[in-house]
Amino acid sequence: MPRKRNKAKIFTVLITAGPTQEPLDPVRYLSNRSSGKMGYALAEAAHKKGHAVILISGPTIIPQPKGVKIISVETAKQMYKAVFKYFKKADVIIKTAAVADYHPAIQAKQKIKKEKNTLMLRLVKNPDILKELGRKKNPNQILVGFAAETEHLIQNAKKKLIQKNCDWIVANRVGKKETGFNSDWNQVTLISKTGRLIRLQKTPKKKLAPLILKKLGI
Ligand code: CTP
Repeated sequence: MPRKRNKAKIFTVLITAGPTQEPLDPVRYLSNRSSGKMGYALAEAAHKKGHAVILISGPTIIPQPKGVKIISVETAKQMYKAVFKYFKKADVIIKTAAVADYHPAIQAKQKIKKEKNTLMLRLVKNPDILKELGRKKNPNQILVGFAAETEHLIQNAKKKLIQKNCDWIVANRVGKKETGFNSDWNQVTLISKTGRLIRLQKTPKKKLAPLILKKLGI
């Protein structure tokens, strides 16, 4: 249960950030354009509010925020393992990470040579960490997902909110230069399982992070 200090509740906040990288051979991987900026900004903001923060991060080039426990991972499977190591002690779990949905079925031991004109890759689905958290969470834990969408933003985000049993989903339009993946700015809409819908203005991620936490009541 969260401790109380100066009336404000102090939580243990578990945040995942960045992309995952799924190795194809010793020199190549499959990944996405996530920079980790939103997750790191949330980690910093939560720490500034006095919360204990555990940040599970895929590969990024962002400096590590001070006072935050960081666990670095590369693949979705490693992120899954790290999340479930810490999830029981978390009051709040925020999943900003852009987890790769698939990994190559075979990881070549040596560099794949360009011998053929076409190359077929067989991909295998990764575990859905958020969905599993939704199944395993206790009613006191607040579970927040991020929905990265290029179309039908609110409709798709609402679907994920329900399918993954989240308390909140943050609808995040991606695929545009000015907001979303790799941008310093973001424009998001928070949707709660109780039907609240809070649209936040386009804002720099560092300023948006404390605002998101405030709206989530953290
Ligand atoms: N997520 C996860 N594990 C996965 C895939 C996604 O935990 N294997 C989480 C993300 O961290 C995010 C939420 O699920 O909080 C939504 O991720 P998103 O990439 O928007 O959607 P997907 O569930 O992967 O579905 P789709 O790619 O079909 O949109």
